[in-house]
This record gives sequence, structure tokens and C-alpha cells, in this order.
Amino acid sequence: MRILSGIQPSGKLHLGNYFGMMRPSLQLQEKGEAYLFIANYHALTSVHNAEKIRQSTLNVALDFLACGLDPERTVFFRQSDVPEVHELSWLLSTVTPMGLLERCHSYKDKTAKGIAANHALFAYPVLMASDILIYQSNIVPVGRDQKQHVEVTRDIAIKFNNEFGEVFTIPEPSIQSDMAVISGTDGQKMSKSYGNTIELFASPKETKTTIMKKIVTDSTPLEDPKDPENCNVFALYKLFANDEQLAEMETNYRGGNYGYGHAKKALLSIFNETFAPFREKREELANNLDYVDEVLSKGAEKARATATETLDKARTAVGL
Ligand code: TRP
Repeated sequence: MRILSGIQPSGKLHLGNYFGMMRPSLQLQEKGEAYLFIANYHALTSVHNAEKIRQSTLNVALDFLACGLDPERTVFFRQSDVPEVHELSWLLSTVTPMGLLERCHSYKDKTAKGIAANHALFAYPVLMASDILIYQSNIVPVGRDQKQHVEVTRDIAIKFNNEFGEVFTIPEPSIQSDMAVISGTDGQKMSKSYGNTIELFASPKETKTTIMKKIVTDSTPLEDPKDPENCNVFALYKLFANDEQLAEMETNYRGGNYGYGHAKKALLSIFNETFAPFREKREELANNLDYVDEVLSKGAEKARATATETLDKARTAVGL
């Protein structure tokens, strides 16, 4: 069984990314043959700044390797190291109805906001279909916002297979159910665009400031009992804590004489405990960029072998 996912290189990763997308995709390493790539071609639909693209691509690679991606188990690569996806993308566009792309939410949302669409933004789902189909993927773990794109991929694959013979495996989306619920410092969904994130690899000092000063709490006095279910600090603590730790904090909240400052300190210390080993690993990797590059190049080599095989079949099927 082949599991594939892609991540766009954009900005610094935060706790929402970690618990929503990174950890679940790292857990999938255990379940089958995993392919994971950094979608830098897709990033070009919105970022036109070479240095930024290069830097974010490297950051995503460092973050994933630091947080436990095992390159022996997961084929990890840059999308742009397999340019074959573009040729397949062209073949797929010949069976893609305009209407199918016009209905895509991500495109409609952006144009509705007044963002001028370029052709790449419109064609984005076809390239994504090519990413998925070229590796004959069975399962595609994505967030809710990408589900429609996987459905579009299925439509395209079925149409192509009907018209030209069985070339592609029909993939299934696998939706991360806990994806949407990670709340930021203000209680809204954690997102870079809301400015309410807690970054994974900020300096220890910055992390401390964010947790101690930015998380919004109500003004219940120290002595009074507090409701853990309606507290941003507790919601974040819950992501890290085991049952015992959680029960202890809950008792503290309900008992009174336990302030939000105490809870924040507990959150900071569990955050540091969890990420200290990853931070150390990330520093090591950042000092050994040749190794990182080698991992990505080897991943690309493997990915490319699979991609070439599929592309050859597709070319033959259409008459090239
Ligand atoms: N569009 C995806 C996102 O923004 C990234 C992506 C590109 C992707 N190609 C993919 C995800 C293929 C899964 C499979 O999150």
C-alpha cells in the first residue's frame, strides 16, 4: 500500500501544523510505504521570491527530519526534483473538464477575495492529481481543505482510464479528523494568518514569551475554581499531556488557588520537554546541510524511478 502526501513550503511551522499534519503523517510511516514531498512547484502559484522559496523548502526539510521523519522508511523529496509530473500533468489536463476546476473551492475562495488568479492557480488541482497519480498512490492523507482536490484527482484518473486503458490506481483521501481543532493563543484555529501561533522552533525566550504572555485567559481570580473546558491554556496542554498529567491539571483548575500563570508554566515545561530533543536534532541537521541534501536527492531518485514508469505507460496509452 502506498501512502503519499505533499506539504507546501510556507513560513515557520507551528503547533497546529505539528499536531494536525506532521505527527499524523509521521505515524503513517509505520503503516505502509510512505512518500512525502515538499510541494515547491505549488508554492510558486503564490510566492514569487526565489530566496524565500529556497529557504522555506530547506526549513520544511529540516523540520520534518528533526521531528522524526525516517528517510529509510519514507521516500522524502522535493517536488521539483521530479519534473516528470509536468508532462503527466499535461496529459491529464486533456481529460480535465474546465467545469471541474471552476468548481474547486480553493480557487473560488481566492478569486472571491479579489486575488487575481494566474493560470497556475487554476491548474493547481491538475498538478496535484499528477503528483498523486504518478506514484500510483493508494492513500492520500490531507486536511479537510484538500479533500476536494483528491476527489478531483479521482475523477481525472477514472476519466483517463476509461479513455485510454487502465494506467492509474484510483486513490482514496484519508482525512485527519483532529486537523481543525487545534486552537491558537486566542482560542481561534491556530493559523499564521491570525497571528495566534506557537512556533515549533522559535528561540526558548520567544517561546516563553508567547506562552506566558500571549495566551488569552479570562479574569477569574486566583483563589476561585476554574473551568478547564473553556480555557486556551488547558486546550493546548491537552495536546501534550498523558491521562495522569491531564487529570492532575483538571483537579487543580477545579480546586481553586491555582492561577492561569501556574497552568502556563506547566504548559511551557511540557512543551520544552517534548521539543527539546527535536530542537537538538534540528541544530545538528542545520550544521550538516550536505546530509539533508543527500537525503532529498536519494528520495528524488527513488521517486523518479516510479514516476518514469507511470509516465511511460501514460505516454504509450495516449499515442506518444
Ligand atoms: N495542495 C496541498 C496543500 O496545500 C499540497 C499538495 C500538493 C499535496 N500536491 C499534493 C498534498 C499531493 C497531497 C498530495 O496542502
